[in-house]
Amino acid sequence: MSNNRIYIFDTTLRDGEQSPGVSLNVQEKLEIAQQLARLGVDVIEAGFPIASPGDFQAVKTIAERVKGPVIAGLCRATREDIDAGWEALKGAESPRIHTFIATSDIHLKYKLQRSREEVLEQAVAAVKYAKQFCSDVEFSAEDASRSDLDYLCTVVEKVIDAGATVVNLPDTVGYAIPDEFGRFIKAIMERVPNIHRARLSVHCHNDLGLAVANSLAAILNGATQIEGAINGIGERAGNASLEEIIMALYTKKAFYQKEVAVNYQEIYRTSRLVSSLTGMVVQPNKAIVGKNAFAHEAGIHQDGVLKERTTYEIMKPELIGIYKSNLVLGKHSGRHAFSEKLKEMGFELSGEELDKAFRRFKELADKKKEVTDDDIEALIKDEVWAI
Ligand code: KIV
Ligand code: ZN
Repeated sequence: MSNNRIYIFDTTLRDGEQSPGVSLNVQEKLEIAQQLARLGVDVIEAGFPIASPGDFQAVKTIAERVKGPVIAGLCRATREDIDAGWEALKGAESPRIHTFIATSDIHLKYKLQRSREEVLEQAVAAVKYAKQFCSDVEFSAEDASRSDLDYLCTVVEKVIDAGATVVNLPDTVGYAIPDEFGRFIKAIMERVPNIHRARLSVHCHNDLGLAVANSLAAILNGATQIEGAINGIGERAGNASLEEIIMALYTKKAFYQKEVAVNYQEIYRTSRLVSSLTGMVVQPNKAIVGKNAFAHEAGIHQDGVLKERTTYEIMKPELIGIYKSNLVLGKHSGRHAFSEKLKEMGFELSGEELDKAFRRFKELADKKKEVTDDDIEALIKDEVWAI
């Protein structure tokens, strides 16, 4: 296995489903998990088995039916959670118990009302307990980015000694900024003596709109597993958007020199499926998968793209499974784009007809934000050919 490999941990079905207003049934979760497997993510976090009977059933069904990726289930650092987690996961080809407890003083004081020593003990005990069932155990130090660094290093070292195969450091409240988060990961890599015995993972939230940037900074400093959700859905402002991280690594490969093992062609289909089943609309200008991500409206841009796509496109939409035309006709569009669109739609116009059609199109474009294919068809038939 290449040591440049970045592992993609998808939590669309767990953290993503924690988006306000989202609730998926077992069948819908199975459908998304099957698509995630086609996309080729390394790990699918299928849910939080103890949270509800529905979540338990979803994790169990996905564990039994979805082959390929590791199937993970989230459990607090308690025996009861881990028992339920294992019960749901045990039918999986490659199961992973994902256990967590908070490590920041603010969470210890107000939420857990435990001392640092007690939390350390509980974390170690949870990993040891989970190890009795499953060789693959991930430990997450919730609110890691706001935890005392010395204390966090001790927790990380001890859970690795206890058998954790993956240690995840979440920026739970999306408070980190890229340089700072990169330095934080570097410090963990340098200060935890046994860190190379586990995979270091990050899980960034998007409260400051920096989840993807923070994840990329973590990669530069030694993280090899990235957690996130399709379309960036999740608690509050969401999780790191997986498609953005994947495409940043692809597009800037010469810089990062990292590899992922996904089927790029499935990115767009996965995004559409998640959007339609969760009801979370993808904003039009969302990077990679938004409706406008590969659309060109300005005449100068359209002309450039028609001459040579790389003038205004840094990625090929077909790579991620988008095949539809990227020309959006509006008042800024020029004659070049208009005549290309006509060709695409199957209209062969003489020079004179094209002049007339273009004049009519400009008049219409002044009245309408976007001139659709239907508008163009009507315009040619009624006004140019008069049929
Ligand atoms: O944001 C977070 O800290 C989490 C953990 C439970 C992994 O979702
Ligand atoms: Zn989270």
